[in-house]
Amino acid sequence: MSKLLYVHANPKPEGTSRTLKISDSFVEAYRQNNPQDEIITLDLYKEDIDFLSKEDISLHYIDPDQQKAHPALKYAFQFLEVDKVVIGAPFWNLSFPAIIKAYLDYVTVSGVTFKYTSQGPVGLCQGKKAMHIVTRGGAYSEEPLSQFELGDRYIKTLFGFLGFSEYDTIAVENMDRSDTNVEEVVGDAIKLAQEKAKNF
Ligand SMILES: Cc1cc2nc3c(=O)[nH]c(=O)nc-3n(C[C@H](O)[C@H](O)[C@H](O)COP(=O)(O)O)c2cc1C
Repeated sequence: MSKLLYVHANPKPEGTSRTLKISDSFVEAYRQNNPQDEIITLDLYKEDIDFLSKEDISLHYIDPDQQKAHPALKYAFQFLEVDKVVIGAPFWNLSFPAIIKAYLDYVTVSGVTFKYTSQGPVGLCQGKKAMHIVTRGGAYSEEPLSQFELGDRYIKTLFGFLGFSEYDTIAVENMDRSDTNVEEVVGDAIKLAQEKAKNF
């Protein structure tokens, strides 16, 4: 049995986010294909996530038993315990909603999800796989705008740093172009997500 962590972030009213329509469909298809697996869902806007404080940073340097007992590190330990992570969030200001960064700052904890060694940092999330699902108003997959894409690149780089072995992205673009048939594009993306979920 695997554990899947579904992290999503969008403050829009329920049912109106294009991104979450796709990421919810991915997770639902995954659930149907893997009924024995445990799925944990985190709606970041319903979590009590703040920015890292002085006290929180000091938790990076205490001993592991004390770390485990500390509530501020619950996201890091939860992240460590799952096998698969799905992130669903819209493209905002060339990356993602800031709450995703705030969450990832609580996940990226030395001694928990990565450690420092004499050879440098080593990820402790070996063998995990991730899927990032995003919709964008414009198109950033190809030149010349690809260099402005800082969201998927950040998550992919961070997850690689943490030791993930597999990372995939479903990026649906041009959602805000006047000539885009949004319903059709989202429908196609849902089909793609459902297909990808079968092998996730
Ligand atoms: C605060 C905010 C910032 C955005 N920034 C960008 C951006 O930098 N580039 C872009 O192509 N689209 C941007 N968009 C458009 C969204 O990425 C696009 O509409 C997306 O499909 C929204 O997904 P949703 O329906 O899940 O909220 C932004 C939208 C918002 C609300």
